[in-house]
Amino acid sequence: MLPVRLLLLLAVFSSVRTTILENVDKADLEAVRIRLMEEKAKRLLLQNDVDVLMLKFEELKRKCDQRDEHVFDGNVTLVTHSIAFTATLSADMLFPSGTILTFDHVRVNEDNCYNSSTGKFRASFRGLYSFSVTVLPVLSSHPVGCFIMKDNDEIGRVYTGDTGIATGSVTVVTMMDKGQEVYLKGRHNHQEYVQGAHWSTFTGLLLYRYN
Ligand SMILES: *[C@@H]1O[C@H](CO)[C@@H](O)[C@H](O)[C@H]1NC(C)=O
Ligand SMILES: *[C@@H]1O[C@H](CO)[C@@H](O)[C@H](O)[C@H]1NC(C)=O
Repeated sequence: MLPVRLLLLLAVFSSVRTTILENVDKADLEAVRIRLMEEKAKRLLLQNDVDVLMLKFEELKRKCDQRDEHVFDGNVTLVTHSIAFTATLSADMLFPSGTILTFDHVRVNEDNCYNSSTGKFRASFRGLYSFSVTVLPVLSSHPVGCFIMKDNDEIGRVYTGDTGIATGSVTVVTMMDKGQEVYLKGRHNHQEYVQGAHWSTFTGLLLYRYN
């Protein structure tokens, strides 16, 4: 048996200790509680930011999906690369039968796609291209006719001059593989006497690039 004095002492000591501990714990708990509330508030704000971002993301995704569905089939990309040329004929030219009509005066030649000495446009991307030609004869007795050629295939033709001197024009669109060439070729059995002074023009450009 412990002496009564010692028991009393122990009891007092333990009660003091409990009180101290309680006080310390309460202060700590309060601090932790405040801290938790702060964290919870921050988390709510962050969640709100995330919700806003998710909405924006969904909207962007929807717009992209729509674009893919309606305009692009997934193999087509927007043309970000400028491919375009316009060349005109500066002086009247008598082109021998079946030769390439070279238009010498280059007004636009993005990416150097047109070679004025060969008269050829070369595709630097697979894609859909547009070409336009306008020719004006020099003499009314001398109609002008020519073909738009893609490598060895005819993809367009124009003829004018039977009923006086008037311009003739044609526009075509065509799919091209990288490296294919488009140019103008005169008729096999006629010399083409084409008027210069920039009346006659040859234009081409990339519309859509295919992957
Ligand atoms: C897109 O490309 C794939 C793979 O080359 C091909 O199978 C598909 O037919 C193409 N789609 C169109 C519309 O050209
Ligand atoms: C145009 O073609 C000619 C003949 O093939 C070539 O010698 C010349 O370098 C080309 N010019 C350009 C700018 O590519």
